Amino acid sequence: MYLNNHKAIKNKTMKRKILLLSVLTVSFCQIQAQQKSSNVPQLGKNTVDEVVAAMTLEEKAQLLVGATMESFDGNGSVVGSTKKLVPGAAGTTTAISRLGIPATVLTDGPAGVRILPTRPGDSKTYYCTGFPIATCLASTWNASLVQQIGKAMGNEVLEYGCDVLLGPGMNLQRNPLCGRNFEYYSEDPYLTGKIAASMVEGVQSQGVGASIKHFAANNQETLRTVNDARISQRALREIYLKGFEIAVEDAQPWTVMSSYNHINGVYTQEEHKLLTTILRSDWGFKGMVMTDWTGTRNTVAQVHAGNDLMMPGKAEQIKDIVANVKSGKLAMADVDRNVKRMLEFILRTPHFKGYQYSNTPDLKAHAEITRHSAEEGVILLKNDDETLPFTKDVKNIALFGVTSYDFIAGGTGSGDVNKAYVVDLKDGLQNAGYTIESKVKTVYEKYKAYEDERLDEINKMRGWYLGPLRPEELSLDDTFIGLRAKKSDIAVITFGRNSGEGSDRHLAGDFELSQTERDLLTRVTRIFHAANKKVVVILNVGGVIETASWKYLPDAILLAWQPGQEGGNSVADILKGVVNPSGKLPMTFPMDYFDVPSSRNFPIDFVSHWNDEENPLLKDVKNVGYTNYEEGIWIGYRYFSTKNKEVSYPFGFGLSYTTFGFSKAELKRSGDHYIVAVKITNTGKVAGKEVVELYVAAPKGKLEKPVCELKAFAKTRLLKSGESEVVNLKFDIADLASFDELENSWVTDAGTYKVLVGASVSDIRSTISFSVDKPLIHKVSSED
Ligand code: BGC
Repeated sequence: MYLNNHKAIKNKTMKRKILLLSVLTVSFCQIQAQQKSSNVPQLGKNTVDEVVAAMTLEEKAQLLVGATMESFDGNGSVVGSTKKLVPGAAGTTTAISRLGIPATVLTDGPAGVRILPTRPGDSKTYYCTGFPIATCLASTWNASLVQQIGKAMGNEVLEYGCDVLLGPGMNLQRNPLCGRNFEYYSEDPYLTGKIAASMVEGVQSQGVGASIKHFAANNQETLRTVNDARISQRALREIYLKGFEIAVEDAQPWTVMSSYNHINGVYTQEEHKLLTTILRSDWGFKGMVMTDWTGTRNTVAQVHAGNDLMMPGKAEQIKDIVANVKSGKLAMADVDRNVKRMLEFILRTPHFKGYQYSNTPDLKAHAEITRHSAEEGVILLKNDDETLPFTKDVKNIALFGVTSYDFIAGGTGSGDVNKAYVVDLKDGLQNAGYTIESKVKTVYEKYKAYEDERLDEINKMRGWYLGPLRPEELSLDDTFIGLRAKKSDIAVITFGRNSGEGSDRHLAGDFELSQTERDLLTRVTRIFHAANKKVVVILNVGGVIETASWKYLPDAILLAWQPGQEGGNSVADILKGVVNPSGKLPMTFPMDYFDVPSSRNFPIDFVSHWNDEENPLLKDVKNVGYTNYEEGIWIGYRYFSTKNKEVSYPFGFGLSYTTFGFSKAELKRSGDHYIVAVKITNTGKVAGKEVVELYVAAPKGKLEKPVCELKAFAKTRLLKSGESEVVNLKFDIADLASFDELENSWVTDAGTYKVLVGASVSDIRSTISFSVDKPLIHKVSSED
């Protein structure tokens, strides 16, 4: 009956689908009721142990394997296919109606919900909000704001009939060229962990789950499904696992997604130490682990390691589990343990609880949230002579750069959201009451229309791994630019970059400006400056780009990131001064790509192909098949500050339209906890928010340490001119520890520590010392 109902649903209109879905739910309940009466244990009515005990081996295997590939339930019916539950969601778990186990729906992540916006035969649309990319959210340094965004995302997960958001992504931004950096937060594990924890709390406050991913060390896209990340234990613990540890301990995500890659020769999905000893025994994770959307691996090793769910699911994995249990290669106890975790997960889900989702989340309210959250993530990098906000004299803007007319809301791949619209900068400025100089607008709009048509054909063939092409920058001559300078009050140029899953970014024309972009910037600044008019550059990018060689040219630079679907409005609010920028860099902008410590050990200009992972020859290619994390813990500011190496913009940096004074920091200790209080005063003319960053410098001990490491941060409320706020920053003695590989322990050395409180890692305003009398040693569980 279940099967017949499903077939019927496929061919009807949505109204009828909803009706049938209710019938389905009723039928499902009827089946449950009948089965209850026939004494078959039912999930939710009987204990999890009783349900496990009633399951056949085949049913257990089905539950551990996702149902994206059509699989059958205990009654032999085809159920649970993604297509049928929520079109476009990434996957579903398998239903076993005999035992009252419904299918659940997992959806990407992380910048919003990713489902198909339209459905055949249905006039309703299912658009989701395109929120700012993760990097932009981390740039807010505002944990409670991120929690609100998580709430809005979680609400869309719930109201569109899904159970888990496949996010946040929280791999470290080890190298600027990683194609998925936009989905990740920072080069710093503490900032990553705290922002991720807030996101998880927000999402899960809606009664749906989050999935922190990709666990772990998935720091490059090139050959991501096989790449072996060769990392020291210290770097692994302090850098690549630390953020996950914080998110697990602070927010208990419902699920963790194990990554594609190897770490030190073992697939993360097959590593018991990572998925069980570290994640569960050491950190206390209570939820379910699912694999990233992998093809077949060693199923026995995956199940044993603690991958409770294999996604997206293949029939052969089910057979594999059954056969290996029968042959004794896979312990039934491992299977039962994972099945129990799956059932405990399912019990929490809206699908299990029979939540009647509306398919109409409040997209208008969420658009407001995305607009305002992007405004806090935008970073003012340069603002000579108070170029920004625009003065009252600015009315007519010469808007250059094809991206100004084609704003990028977010990255590509599974992190892309099917949003209803994107507000580009041209529209944002017009909405804010500005006029766009008409000739420049016409030229770009015509060019864009031409390019859209041309690229559409090409992009259809490029696919996931290569990602879509975008129009290249347009060459404009001096005469044309000169006339624009006469007819407008200021020039704004946007440079855009996009990247995504499956491949990494390139140096030329991507990390660096292309020759045409450089030429445009040079000509526009020369000509506008000669006409006594200013030039502002907007960076609409998903990751770090080179700035050192050209930043002296424009008067102001605004790093807008990929600010979500309301991006043009958010940026216009800042340019106009409706909002005072308060974002700060969650990573370092280097002077040169090759200053980045990981640059020697990162693929450059390798063009990924979808079947590369099957090419055995590539496994032995450095930076492709394997990557040596030779830099160890020395990533980002840990390296630049310690080596005193010049950077273009330091970690934690961002300007404001106002200025802030920091009082002398005061430190209080209570047991193992420290609280540092500092009074922040708005000493400028306009209202604004300030990010307060607390770094700790450790005494000389057995291990070499960075000159300082971020241990706490906070953001003030909006302070009016002259207003103050006392900010309290907290950390524990255990937070000061480094990982001693030889002792297999976290060690906080005894000695004198310095607390550095400031506005960026290079702008410390107050320093205070304290001492630790006895070393603190915390041994971690060992498996070797
Ligand atoms: C990505 C994951 C994503 C999954 C489901 C994979 O290719 O790596 O981040 O959640 O697909 O779409």
